[in-house]
Amino acid sequence: MLLITRKIPPAVAARAAREHMVRQLEIQGVFDSAVLLENLEGVDAILCTPADRFDAALIGKLPQQVRVIATFSVGLEHIDLAAAAAQGVEVCNTPDVLSTATAELALTLMLMAARRAGEGERLLRAGKWAGLSPTFFLGRRVSGKTLGIFGMGRIGRELAGMARGLGMTVHYRNRSRLAPELELGAVYHGDDASFLGAIDFLSINAPGGAETYHWLNAARIGMLKPGAVVVNTGRGSAVDDEALIGALRSGHVLAAGLDVYNNEPHVHPGYLELENAVLLPHIGSATVETRDAMGFLALDGIKRVLGIDGDQ
Ligand code: DGY
Repeated sequence: MLLITRKIPPAVAARAAREHMVRQLEIQGVFDSAVLLENLEGVDAILCTPADRFDAALIGKLPQQVRVIATFSVGLEHIDLAAAAAQGVEVCNTPDVLSTATAELALTLMLMAARRAGEGERLLRAGKWAGLSPTFFLGRRVSGKTLGIFGMGRIGRELAGMARGLGMTVHYRNRSRLAPELELGAVYHGDDASFLGAIDFLSINAPGGAETYHWLNAARIGMLKPGAVVVNTGRGSAVDDEALIGALRSGHVLAAGLDVYNNEPHVHPGYLELENAVLLPHIGSATVETRDAMGFLALDGIKRVLGIDGDQ
Protein backbone atom coordinates (compact mmCIF):
# COMPACT_ATOMS: atom_id res chain seq x y z
CA MET A 1 0.00 0.00 0.00
CA LEU A 2 1.33 3.45 -1.00
CA LEU A 3 0.41 6.37 1.24
CA ILE A 4 0.43 9.76 -0.54
CA THR A 5 0.43 12.74 1.79
CA ARG A 6 -0.83 15.50 -0.51
CA LYS A 7 -2.69 15.93 -3.77
CA ILE A 8 -0.44 15.01 -6.72
CA PRO A 9 -0.73 15.66 -10.50
CA PRO A 10 -3.40 13.51 -12.21
CA ALA A 11 -0.95 11.62 -14.46
CA VAL A 12 1.17 10.67 -11.45
CA ALA A 13 -1.89 9.67 -9.42
CA ALA A 14 -3.08 7.49 -12.31
CA ARG A 15 0.26 5.69 -12.55
CA ALA A 16 0.44 5.27 -8.76
CA ALA A 17 -3.00 3.65 -8.85
CA ARG A 18 -1.84 1.22 -11.56
CA GLU A 19 1.18 0.17 -9.53
CA HIS A 20 -0.10 0.17 -5.95
CA MET A 21 -3.04 0.10 -3.66
CA VAL A 22 -3.13 3.81 -2.80
CA ARG A 23 -4.19 5.64 0.33
CA GLN A 24 -4.45 9.30 -0.65
CA LEU A 25 -4.34 11.87 2.14
CA GLU A 26 -5.08 15.48 1.22
CA ILE A 27 -2.99 17.31 3.81
CA GLN A 28 -3.04 21.05 3.17
CA GLY A 29 -0.80 23.61 4.77
CA VAL A 30 1.10 22.61 7.89
CA PHE A 31 2.00 18.92 8.12
CA ASP A 32 0.38 17.02 10.95
CA SER A 33 2.37 13.87 11.74
CA ALA A 34 -0.54 12.51 13.82
CA VAL A 35 -2.68 12.31 10.66
CA LEU A 36 0.08 10.38 8.93
CA LEU A 37 0.53 7.97 11.84
CA GLU A 38 -3.21 7.23 11.95
CA ASN A 39 -3.12 6.11 8.32
CA LEU A 40 -0.20 3.73 8.16
CA GLU A 41 -1.92 0.37 8.45
CA GLY A 42 -0.68 -1.88 5.62
CA VAL A 43 1.55 0.90 4.20
CA ASP A 44 4.97 -0.09 2.85
CA ALA A 45 5.76 3.10 0.89
CA ILE A 46 5.15 6.81 1.47
CA LEU A 47 5.16 9.57 -1.15
CA CYS A 48 5.67 12.90 0.62
CA THR A 49 6.63 16.49 -0.19
CA PRO A 50 9.13 19.01 1.21
CA ALA A 51 6.31 20.41 3.35
CA ASP A 52 6.12 17.13 5.30
CA ARG A 53 8.72 16.92 8.06
CA PHE A 54 9.99 13.41 8.75
CA ASP A 55 12.14 14.01 11.82
CA ALA A 56 13.76 11.28 13.90
CA ALA A 57 10.78 11.12 16.29
CA LEU A 58 8.32 10.49 13.46
CA ILE A 59 10.57 8.04 11.63
CA GLY A 60 11.02 6.13 14.90
CA LYS A 61 7.24 5.65 15.07
CA LEU A 62 6.86 4.28 11.53
CA PRO A 63 5.83 0.63 11.49
CA GLN A 64 8.47 -1.90 10.37
CA GLN A 65 6.71 -2.60 7.08
CA VAL A 66 7.40 0.95 5.81
CA ARG A 67 10.40 0.40 3.51
CA VAL A 68 10.63 3.58 1.49
CA ILE A 69 9.91 7.31 1.73
CA ALA A 70 9.96 9.02 -1.66
CA THR A 71 9.84 12.80 -1.67
CA PHE A 72 8.43 15.01 -4.40
CA SER A 73 11.60 17.13 -4.32
CA VAL A 74 15.31 17.15 -4.91
CA GLY A 75 15.78 18.70 -1.44
CA LEU A 76 16.03 16.21 1.40
CA GLU A 77 16.43 18.46 4.44
CA HIS A 78 12.89 17.72 5.65
CA ILE A 79 13.82 14.06 6.18
CA ASP A 80 16.20 12.86 8.89
CA LEU A 81 18.32 10.63 6.66
CA ALA A 82 20.33 9.13 9.52
CA ALA A 83 17.14 8.13 11.36
CA ALA A 84 15.71 6.63 8.18
CA ALA A 85 18.89 4.63 7.54
CA ALA A 86 18.92 3.39 11.15
CA GLN A 87 15.34 2.19 10.72
CA GLY A 88 16.12 0.51 7.36
CA VAL A 89 13.89 2.93 5.43
CA GLU A 90 15.22 3.98 2.01
CA VAL A 91 14.74 7.57 0.93
CA CYS A 92 14.32 8.57 -2.74
CA ASN A 93 14.20 12.07 -4.23
CA THR A 94 13.76 13.63 -7.68
CA PRO A 95 17.02 15.14 -8.93
CA ASP A 96 17.75 16.29 -12.50
CA VAL A 97 14.19 16.55 -13.81
CA LEU A 98 13.55 19.92 -12.14
CA SER A 99 16.81 21.62 -13.07
CA THR A 100 15.52 23.45 -16.15
CA ALA A 101 12.29 24.64 -14.52
CA THR A 102 14.11 25.90 -11.42
CA ALA A 103 16.78 27.64 -13.51
CA GLU A 104 14.01 29.27 -15.57
CA LEU A 105 12.49 30.63 -12.39
CA ALA A 106 15.84 31.95 -11.16
CA LEU A 107 16.18 33.75 -14.50
CA THR A 108 12.63 35.08 -14.19
CA LEU A 109 13.39 36.48 -10.74
CA MET A 110 16.67 37.97 -11.89
CA LEU A 111 14.98 39.83 -14.74
CA MET A 112 11.98 40.83 -12.64
CA ALA A 113 14.18 42.19 -9.87
CA ALA A 114 16.51 44.09 -12.22
CA ARG A 115 13.66 45.51 -14.33
CA ARG A 116 11.34 46.23 -11.37
CA ALA A 117 8.63 44.08 -12.93
CA GLY A 118 6.66 43.35 -9.74
CA GLU A 119 6.72 46.98 -8.67
CA GLY A 120 5.67 48.13 -12.16
CA GLU A 121 2.76 45.75 -12.30
CA ARG A 122 1.56 46.82 -8.86
CA LEU A 123 1.74 50.48 -9.91
CA LEU A 124 -0.22 49.89 -13.11
CA ARG A 125 -2.91 47.80 -11.41
CA ALA A 126 -3.27 50.51 -8.79
CA GLY A 127 -4.12 52.99 -11.57
CA LYS A 128 -1.02 55.07 -10.81
CA TRP A 129 0.63 54.99 -14.25
CA ALA A 130 0.77 58.55 -15.56
CA GLY A 131 2.52 57.74 -18.87
CA LEU A 132 6.02 57.53 -20.32
CA SER A 133 8.92 59.79 -19.46
CA PRO A 134 12.67 59.31 -19.97
CA THR A 135 13.31 58.90 -16.28
CA PHE A 136 10.28 56.81 -15.45
CA PHE A 137 10.83 53.46 -13.75
CA LEU A 138 14.45 52.87 -14.57
CA GLY A 139 15.78 49.43 -13.83
CA ARG A 140 19.14 47.83 -14.59
CA ARG A 141 20.23 45.94 -17.68
CA VAL A 142 21.08 42.29 -17.19
CA SER A 143 22.94 41.61 -20.46
CA GLY A 144 26.66 42.22 -20.25
CA LYS A 145 26.68 41.90 -16.46
CA THR A 146 28.34 39.29 -14.26
CA LEU A 147 26.26 36.57 -12.65
CA GLY A 148 27.63 34.76 -9.61
CA ILE A 149 26.16 31.34 -8.95
CA PHE A 150 26.48 30.01 -5.41
CA GLY A 151 26.11 26.24 -5.81
CA MET A 152 27.07 25.10 -9.32
CA GLY A 153 25.14 21.82 -9.33
CA ARG A 154 22.68 20.78 -12.01
CA ILE A 155 20.37 23.78 -11.50
CA GLY A 156 23.24 26.23 -11.28
CA ARG A 157 24.73 24.91 -14.52
CA GLU A 158 21.37 25.17 -16.32
CA LEU A 159 21.11 28.77 -15.16
CA ALA A 160 24.68 29.43 -16.32
CA GLY A 161 23.71 28.29 -19.84
CA MET A 162 20.67 30.57 -19.88
CA ALA A 163 22.70 33.51 -18.56
CA ARG A 164 25.34 33.04 -21.28
CA GLY A 165 22.50 33.30 -23.79
CA LEU A 166 21.78 36.74 -22.34
CA GLY A 167 25.40 37.78 -22.77
CA MET A 168 26.25 37.52 -19.08
CA THR A 169 29.63 36.42 -17.75
CA VAL A 170 29.31 33.60 -15.23
CA HIS A 171 31.34 33.23 -12.03
CA TYR A 172 30.70 30.53 -9.44
CA ARG A 173 31.40 29.44 -5.90
CA ASN A 174 31.19 25.76 -5.17
CA ARG A 175 32.60 23.16 -2.78
CA SER A 176 35.10 22.28 -5.50
CA ARG A 177 36.05 23.38 -8.97
CA LEU A 178 34.18 21.70 -11.81
CA ALA A 179 35.75 19.88 -14.75
CA PRO A 180 36.18 22.11 -17.85
CA GLU A 181 33.33 20.39 -19.72
CA LEU A 182 30.94 21.35 -16.88
CA GLU A 183 32.48 24.72 -16.13
CA LEU A 184 32.21 25.86 -19.76
CA GLY A 185 34.32 28.92 -19.14
CA ALA A 186 32.64 30.00 -15.88
CA VAL A 187 35.11 31.56 -13.44
CA TYR A 188 35.63 29.56 -10.23
CA HIS A 189 36.26 31.33 -6.91
CA GLY A 190 37.83 29.51 -3.96
CA ASP A 191 36.71 32.12 -1.43
CA ASP A 192 33.64 34.19 -0.73
CA ALA A 193 35.31 37.61 -0.76
CA SER A 194 36.70 37.33 -4.29
CA PHE A 195 33.44 35.74 -5.51
CA LEU A 196 31.07 38.29 -4.00
CA GLY A 197 33.27 41.23 -4.94
CA ALA A 198 33.31 40.21 -8.62
CA ILE A 199 29.61 39.93 -9.41
CA ASP A 200 26.60 42.12 -10.22
CA PHE A 201 23.96 39.43 -9.70
CA LEU A 202 24.05 36.66 -7.07
CA SER A 203 21.96 33.55 -7.55
CA ILE A 204 21.77 31.09 -4.66
CA ASN A 205 21.34 27.58 -6.03
CA ALA A 206 22.84 25.63 -3.15
CA PRO A 207 20.98 23.06 -1.08
CA GLY A 208 19.81 23.82 2.46
CA GLY A 209 21.20 22.25 5.62
CA ALA A 210 23.85 23.13 8.18
CA GLU A 211 26.59 23.81 5.64
CA THR A 212 24.75 26.70 3.96
CA TYR A 213 22.70 27.95 6.95
CA HIS A 214 22.55 31.78 6.79
CA TRP A 215 25.47 31.80 4.35
CA LEU A 216 24.26 35.15 3.01
CA ASN A 217 24.70 37.11 6.24
CA ALA A 218 25.56 40.75 6.91
CA ALA A 219 29.29 40.15 6.51
CA ARG A 220 28.94 38.52 3.09
CA ILE A 221 26.35 41.05 1.93
CA GLY A 222 28.97 43.67 2.79
CA MET A 223 31.33 41.96 0.32
CA LEU A 224 28.86 42.45 -2.55
CA LYS A 225 29.28 45.46 -4.82
CA PRO A 226 26.80 48.24 -3.94
CA GLY A 227 23.76 47.81 -6.16
CA ALA A 228 24.05 44.04 -6.57
CA VAL A 229 20.89 41.99 -7.12
CA VAL A 230 20.25 38.84 -5.06
CA VAL A 231 18.15 35.87 -6.22
CA ASN A 232 17.35 32.76 -4.19
CA THR A 233 15.69 29.65 -5.59
CA GLY A 234 17.72 27.24 -3.45
CA ARG A 235 16.65 27.25 0.18
CA GLY A 236 15.48 30.12 2.38
CA SER A 237 17.74 28.90 5.17
CA ALA A 238 20.78 30.08 3.15
CA VAL A 239 19.79 33.71 3.84
CA ASP A 240 19.82 35.74 7.04
CA ASP A 241 16.57 37.64 6.45
CA GLU A 242 17.32 40.54 8.80
CA ALA A 243 20.60 41.18 7.02
CA LEU A 244 19.10 41.02 3.52
CA ILE A 245 16.12 43.20 4.47
CA GLY A 246 18.51 45.78 5.97
CA ALA A 247 20.56 45.81 2.76
CA LEU A 248 17.43 46.13 0.59
CA ARG A 249 16.29 49.05 2.72
CA SER A 250 19.65 50.83 2.53
CA GLY A 251 19.98 50.15 -1.20
CA HIS A 252 23.29 48.30 -0.81
CA VAL A 253 21.38 45.43 -2.40
CA LEU A 254 19.42 47.04 -5.24
CA ALA A 255 16.75 44.34 -5.44
CA ALA A 256 16.06 40.74 -4.53
CA GLY A 257 14.05 37.96 -6.16
CA LEU A 258 13.06 35.22 -3.74
CA ASP A 259 11.20 31.95 -4.21
CA VAL A 260 12.25 30.24 -0.96
CA TYR A 261 12.14 31.39 2.67
CA ASN A 262 13.05 30.55 6.22
CA ASN A 263 9.99 29.03 7.97
CA GLU A 264 7.87 28.53 4.82
CA PRO A 265 5.06 29.25 4.25
CA HIS A 266 5.62 32.17 6.64
CA VAL A 267 7.55 34.99 5.02
CA HIS A 268 9.46 37.55 7.09
CA PRO A 269 7.11 40.58 7.19
CA GLY A 270 10.02 42.90 6.42
CA TYR A 271 10.08 41.67 2.83
CA LEU A 272 6.40 42.39 2.31
CA GLU A 273 6.90 46.14 2.71
CA LEU A 274 9.75 46.35 0.21
CA GLU A 275 9.02 47.41 -3.37
CA ASN A 276 12.46 46.12 -4.39
CA ALA A 277 11.74 42.53 -3.32
CA VAL A 278 10.09 40.20 -5.85
CA LEU A 279 8.45 37.41 -3.86
CA LEU A 280 7.20 34.13 -5.30
CA PRO A 281 5.67 31.22 -3.34
CA HIS A 282 8.25 28.40 -3.84
CA ILE A 283 7.25 27.55 -7.41
CA GLY A 284 10.70 26.77 -8.84
CA SER A 285 9.72 23.32 -10.08
CA ALA A 286 6.02 24.09 -10.54
CA THR A 287 5.43 23.34 -14.21
CA VAL A 288 3.09 20.63 -15.45
CA GLU A 289 5.95 18.89 -17.27
CA THR A 290 8.31 19.01 -14.32
CA ARG A 291 5.86 17.98 -11.63
CA ASP A 292 4.82 14.97 -13.74
CA ALA A 293 8.47 14.02 -14.26
CA MET A 294 9.18 14.41 -10.53
CA GLY A 295 6.21 12.21 -9.63
CA PHE A 296 7.25 9.52 -12.12
CA LEU A 297 10.79 9.55 -10.78
CA ALA A 298 9.55 9.19 -7.22
CA LEU A 299 7.38 6.24 -8.31
CA ASP A 300 10.41 4.68 -10.06
CA GLY A 301 12.29 4.89 -6.77
CA ILE A 302 9.45 3.25 -4.87
CA LYS A 303 9.23 0.43 -7.43
CA ARG A 304 12.95 -0.19 -7.19
CA VAL A 305 12.92 -0.41 -3.41
CA LEU A 306 9.83 -2.61 -3.29
CA GLY A 307 11.20 -4.81 -6.10
CA ILE A 308 8.24 -4.23 -8.44
CA ASP A 309 9.33 -5.04 -12.03
CA GLY A 310 8.58 -3.38 -15.35
CA ASP A 311 5.97 -0.84 -16.42
CA GLN A 312 2.57 -1.42 -14.94
C1 DGY B 1 12.81 20.76 -4.42
O1 DGY B 1 12.60 19.84 -5.23
O2 DGY B 1 13.60 20.61 -3.47
C2 DGY B 1 12.07 22.02 -4.62
O3 DGY B 1 12.50 23.02 -3.81
C3 DGY B 1 10.59 21.79 -4.41
O4 DGY B 1 10.01 21.66 -5.63
